[in-house]
Order: sequence, then C-alpha cells, then structure tokens
Amino acid sequence: MDIDYNLLMQKAKEASKKSYSPFSKFAVGASVLASDGKIYSGCNIENSSFGMTICAERCAIFKAVSEGEKEILAVAIYSPNEDDCYPCGACRQVMYEFQGQSEIQIITEKDGKNIIRAMSDFLPYGFKIGAGV
Ligand code: THU
Repeated sequence: MDIDYNLLMQKAKEASKKSYSPFSKFAVGASVLASDGKIYSGCNIENSSFGMTICAERCAIFKAVSEGEKEILAVAIYSPNEDDCYPCGACRQVMYEFQGQSEIQIITEKDGKNIIRAMSDFLPYGFKIGAGV
C-alpha cells in the first residue's frame, strides 16, 4: 500500500492540538495507518496522578486496535515543542506488537520536512511472544 506521509503528518499535527498536557506543557500528536488503509489519531493525555499519563502514540494505537485493527503500517509523530520528536521506549514496544509482514514506517518532522525511519531503527531486536521461534 502506498503510504501518504504528508497526510499522516497532517493528522498527527491536528491531533497535537487536542493534547491535554497542563503539567509538562509538552504537546504530542500521533497518527497510525492500519493495514486496511484507515487512519487513527491520538494525543498525549496527562493526569494529576502523573503516572496515569498516556502518550499520543499509544493513544492512537489503542484506538486503532479497539476498532478491530491488528496490523499497523506507519506511525506519524508530531510535537510543536520539539523538532524530530521520537517515540518513547514504551510506545516503541507497543508499536512492535502490531507490526505485521511489512516493517512499520515512523514519520517525524524536522525543519518542516518529513523524516521516515523504520521500526528497527528505533527498536532493534524487539520482543514479541512467538516471534523468535
Ligand atoms: N509523550 C508522548 O506523548 N509521546 C512520547 O513518545 C514521549 C512523551 C508525552 C507524555 C507526556 O505527556 C509528555 O509527552 C512529556 O513527557
């Protein structure tokens, strides 16, 4: 499937505007392209009990999976606070769980341009039950 990187980044940007981040003041938006072509987006949602915070990437992935998706092709990440905003370690692991035959493409923005990297750039030797046998 052709991946529309610009559209995914646009969706991540729109989602970042919904960020609930009064504590860190660090807004993040993410979008996810599922294997059936649908796009899901999410933002970071913080909580007064700080550990309850969810990142934008996991918010978007869980929205996709809860709608029946099992395979992710691409994830775009955007923060107005940081150029080339990377996914945290927890989100990398959650992305990896939903990687199928084709390697997930991860899109960030730097100097106004999309940067495309592969899942294995962010998480080499990822852990998935059953994948090693
Ligand atoms: N955050 C994300 O949404 N995604 C990441 O991959 C890194 C961190 C959020 C969590 C928290 O609301 C804020 O950014 C600062 O850590």
